[in-house]
Amino acid sequence: MVDSFGRHINYMRISITDRCNLRCRYCMPEEGVKDLGHGIILSLEDIARLTRVAAQVGIRKVRLTGGEPLVRKNITGLIKDIAAIPEIDDIAMTTNGILFPAMAGELKEAGLKRVNISMDTLNEERFAYITRRGGLSSVRQAIFKALELDMHPVKINVVVIRGFNDDEINNFARLAYDYPLHIRFIEYMPVGDLLFWEPERMMSSEEIRNVLQNEYELIPEKTVEGNGPARYYQLTGGKGSLGFISPMSHQFCAECNRIRLTADGKLRGCLYEKQEVDLKEALKRGATDDELRELFLQAIKSKPARHNMNSGWGQLNTRKMYQIGG
Ligand code: 5AD
Ligand code: SF4
Repeated sequence: MVDSFGRHINYMRISITDRCNLRCRYCMPEEGVKDLGHGIILSLEDIARLTRVAAQVGIRKVRLTGGEPLVRKNITGLIKDIAAIPEIDDIAMTTNGILFPAMAGELKEAGLKRVNISMDTLNEERFAYITRRGGLSSVRQAIFKALELDMHPVKINVVVIRGFNDDEINNFARLAYDYPLHIRFIEYMPVGDLLFWEPERMMSSEEIRNVLQNEYELIPEKTVEGNGPARYYQLTGGKGSLGFISPMSHQFCAECNRIRLTADGKLRGCLYEKQEVDLKEALKRGATDDELRELFLQAIKSKPARHNMNSGWGQLNTRKMYQIGG
């Protein structure tokens, strides 16, 4: 399916819960989120059905996100259902890794192809601080488990926050040098728990790259499998790669191939815009697959040309990252 601006939309991110077992300062408030409850959250059966409809309008790749997707019960069953949709050829997940080591085997068996794991620091104390919970050793285990199970490419998301982890940038590069890991440095965005957001904490990809280039030679690369907006570089002599996700300094909207389904059943064309189509409501009134398909087409057609996150935070969407799924 092609949208109003000629972009091929073939990738759907599905947030299956807005709950999380961590409380990252840039994302969630300390007290967590109010339980949306079963009436509001999509059932796993609904999610599977909506994914089947999405496949009919051209979705080929799916990513499960959260909150933290692994806190939702029976996610393995959902993955099996999605894997059974013939048109879907890629199922990935973004996870904080805490519950992953214990579940990795069954997830892989169900059809999960690969994971992105979030890890903002390599230091135990800092990890406990930024997540307000801790558990870095589980995250490390998760990373090695994913490598062991050949869930390639294994990507690590690092939100770079000046004054918090910017002195670890080259340590992360070292990880990508030693292991076949794809480290992605993400510009810090004003979208989560804004109490922790300050403009000075944002470090642009260019600044991050400059730090790296003091120690490593970066070779531009195009070939890391995936659907995202990251720009990748290889490290001379290294096994993995480094990527940069620059929502603040470089818009990648022109190449955006995705739509997003929120845990409460709203379909969004763009992470940063308010516009959404209410699928939960449609399901409640007993919509047919044909009607649902029309709603998907509507969401794709109304996908904006670009976000305007840089033009005034005041008008930013009212939803938080854990509600949309990153
Ligand atoms: N800025 C940048 N990245 C963020 N994420 C969550 N909140 C923010 C933010 N304010 C990241 C998480 C995760 C991914 C899904 O989004 O760290 O890796
Ligand atoms: Fe949870 Fe991810 Fe938000 Fe951290 S960033 S609180 S792991 S959803």
